Amino acid sequence: MMRRAKITIIGAGHVGATTAHWCAAAELGDIVLLDIPQTEGMPAGKALDLLQASPIVGFDARITGTTRYEETAGSDVVVITAGAPRKPGMSRDDLLATNARIVGSVAEQVRQTSPEAVVVVVSNPLDAMAQRTWQVTGFPHQRVVGQAGVLDTARFRTFVALELGVSVEDVTAMLLGGHGDTMVPLLSCCAVGGIPVQQLIERKRLEEIVRRTRDGGAEIIGLLETGSAYYAPAAATAQMVEAIVRDKKRLLPAAAYCEAQYGVGGYYVGVPVVLGAGGVERIIELELDAEERAAFDKSVAAVKSLVATMERLAAGP
Ligand code: NAI
Ligand code: 2OP
Repeated sequence: MMRRAKITIIGAGHVGATTAHWCAAAELGDIVLLDIPQTEGMPAGKALDLLQASPIVGFDARITGTTRYEETAGSDVVVITAGAPRKPGMSRDDLLATNARIVGSVAEQVRQTSPEAVVVVVSNPLDAMAQRTWQVTGFPHQRVVGQAGVLDTARFRTFVALELGVSVEDVTAMLLGGHGDTMVPLLSCCAVGGIPVQQLIERKRLEEIVRRTRDGGAEIIGLLETGSAYYAPAAATAQMVEAIVRDKKRLLPAAAYCEAQYGVGGYYVGVPVVLGAGGVERIIELELDAEERAAFDKSVAAVKSLVATMERLAAGP
């Protein structure tokens, strides 16, 4: 009998619990939700609640919640959503010091308890947290990947579909760079039913859609006021988990470790990857025009500066 994949989700808050929901509904494997001891029964309560949805929705999975890493041991995939989310007026970078500490301690536990896992990092600031996870786990960089691009392209695809009054299913898109205000949606890679988007939407309107995509996270925070987005971020994360546990070789935008690729020089940034059982199995290098290259370089510079600050903070005063 084939063993079901074991998926651990660290941080059972909005994004973590909703990721568990999407993963369970798609029968991706058995799920362990983990949160900090101060949360007491919260992860167990959410897990039991979700499990009780299974006879109604019709999925088979073991779903448990815990505050102890022993129960996550030997996971095939670990999703890290632990940390604080943004509040109105905060940038993702404001989360740097707190979340670097949290993600660092989580990564250390993952290193010990699930040494063979592929790790999908979600906590913000995303690119720096992926870097931190890779540094602390010491895993091969292919087995640490960050979720941002699937969400950011989903936002872009949604806005393009709304603009044209067509199905979101027919809109494809690709994007580069960090998960932040400097992300680089590639208009040359966006198509609607195979037709280049630039033939369907005029340049000025497309620029507005790009701007709304860049500000997509802040738009939701402004509406929610108490936290940040979680349905779409969780669906994006579950899609990456599916690509890994089902070895689908999906070609998706994700934060991956780029050394020579795109001349990045050893940092996690958003690039097109092939995602399968081994994690990031390939990075696709695109030819960029001068404008895209300049925007990408600016985005990479922002990620590098964030990582430098993180490393300074980690080294202490
Ligand atoms: P939340 O506050 O609802 O949940 C975070 C959970 O992490 C809480 O339950 C908290 O108790 C837990 N936690 C804190 N320290 C922990 C530790 N050391 N070990 C285990 N669990 C710990 O926040 P939400 O909305 O779920 O967001 C989580 C993170 O994901 C935030 O950093 C947010 O900015 C980020 N995010 C990233 C996105 C992306 O596209 N990459 C999209 C949306 C959110
Ligand atoms: C988002 O883009 C806050 O990173 C989160 O919604």
